[in-house]
Amino acid sequence: MNQSQHIEKQSVKQTSRKLMLDIKDLRKSFGDTHVLNGFNLELYEGENLVIMGKSGSGKSVMIKCLVGLMQPDSGNIKVMGKDIATLNQIELDELRTEIGFLFQGSALYDSMTVRENLEFPLRRHKHKFGTNIDTSELVAEALENVGLAHTIDLMPEELSGGMKRRVALARTLILRPKIILYDEPTSGLDPITSKEIIELMRRIQKQYKTSSLIITHDVDCARVVSERMVLLVDGIDYAKGTFAELAASSDKKVKAFFK
Ligand SMILES: Nc1ncnc2c1ncn2[C@@H]1O[C@H](COP(=O)(O)OP(=O)(O)OP(=O)(O)O)[C@@H](O)[C@H]1O
Ligand SMILES: [Mg+2]
Repeated sequence: MNQSQHIEKQSVKQTSRKLMLDIKDLRKSFGDTHVLNGFNLELYEGENLVIMGKSGSGKSVMIKCLVGLMQPDSGNIKVMGKDIATLNQIELDELRTEIGFLFQGSALYDSMTVRENLEFPLRRHKHKFGTNIDTSELVAEALENVGLAHTIDLMPEELSGGMKRRVALARTLILRPKIILYDEPTSGLDPITSKEIIELMRRIQKQYKTSSLIITHDVDCARVVSERMVLLVDGIDYAKGTFAELAASSDKKVKAFFK
């Protein structure tokens, strides 16, 4: 059993808001490697929640369990009130259209143009928009949103790292998700490009009122985008609170994040 204390600050108690994600006692091991040991998380409607944890602490594993790409050993995951373990394939697919996932890296399809990359999710989830949707209009609008209208006919290899990240974000947004999961949105980018991506994330949240879960190592990113934070340490939600609350903590493991 894990004996670590949970550090929970006052700001966490906000029971009146709608719960978009509710993770309870999530556990996942690979052989003898116990990655998640009873992780809990609540994401409320309209908020930006940042998760920080050391490399290898299980952030990506957690997010993969959340979208059903990986099966947890135990625990309970509710997405907008629905327990994902009880859903059939069709219901799961439907729920997935409400969740945008920006993968670590950008995961564009290298053999497709920018336009084709953006059309892909629209074709896959036709039912969400009806059969006679104008995909070209949606694609153009999504690209404009991230300031990359001029790249529509380019191949991913012709784009810089920051541009790829923005195209991937446009592809995520095109399905108008209610929840966006960002896995390391600024990793591998220079500070100026990182700042642009962070600004874009904030603008998107305001414009579309999405609820976002943001996984990052980047303290600057966390300070700017987070309304609340969760620190993943030893496989649990070790500490929760605002950036300012956690940055002022005297706990040794919490302090280590803010050096
Ligand atoms: N499919 C898998 N099979 C075996 N072990 C895995 C698998 N996926 C992840 N792990 C292990 O789980 C642990 C957590 O990995 P995870 O990718 O979640 O880390 P992370 O917190 O996202 O790290 P980073 O910040 O480097 O992205 C690591 O020890 C990793 O080796
Ligand atoms: Mg990761």
